[in-house]
Amino acid sequence: MRRWAAFSMMFVVSMIGLALVVPMGQAADAAKEMAAKYILATAKAARTVYVKGIVEDAKKGGMGLNEDWVKDDHSMMLPAQFVKELGKEIKEFELSLVGTDPLYASNAAKSAKEKDMLAELAKGKEKVLIADDGGTTVGMSADYAIVDSCADCHNKHPKTTKKDWKKGDFMGAIVVRLK
Ligand code: HEC
Repeated sequence: MRRWAAFSMMFVVSMIGLALVVPMGQAADAAKEMAAKYILATAKAARTVYVKGIVEDAKKGGMGLNEDWVKDDHSMMLPAQFVKELGKEIKEFELSLVGTDPLYASNAAKSAKEKDMLAELAKGKEKVLIADDGGTTVGMSADYAIVDSCADCHNKHPKTTKKDWKKGDFMGAIVVRLK
């Protein structure tokens, strides 16, 4: 009987342990998902303010956009570079851009899961996707060629592998990766 008592006790204790561990695991993921959503929303808002609030005004003052803005006193960074520069300032998580046909390797999907996510976003049903990628929470916010200049500049870029971008195309996403 004693053995039974000990066994049942162990069973109960391990069940309580399991009950504690499982929801905690889920809670952690839910918190990371929430964080990813908020970060994407903030990054998108920052880029919009940069484009509409800063670039538009600066253009009136004679400034232009130039990928090599560092070398040119009369130009400023592209919106894509602005997002990547924000990311460089952040040590706690990764913030960047990812493309279906990226100009630079650093903007390529980092895993099979990320490729799947881009393919899913390309269908156009979702604007934001969050997924677990082997313990890293990945969030993507879809990026479309909303104006002709998105397509034009990418089509003409010396590094492009795709020259038939057109207005309305799905091009990639702002990406956040939370460990
Ligand atoms: C004047 C040129 C130019 C314009 C206009 C432009 N881009 Fe880009 N875009 C770039 C360059 C250059 C990069 C790579 C920046 C880097 O990684 O340093 C880039 C990167 C990207 C990326 C990351 C994947 C990749 O291709 O490397 C996406 C997605 C993207 N742009 C979407 C857009 C969208 C959407 C618009 C319009 C709202 C747009 N771009 C307008 C030049 C441009």
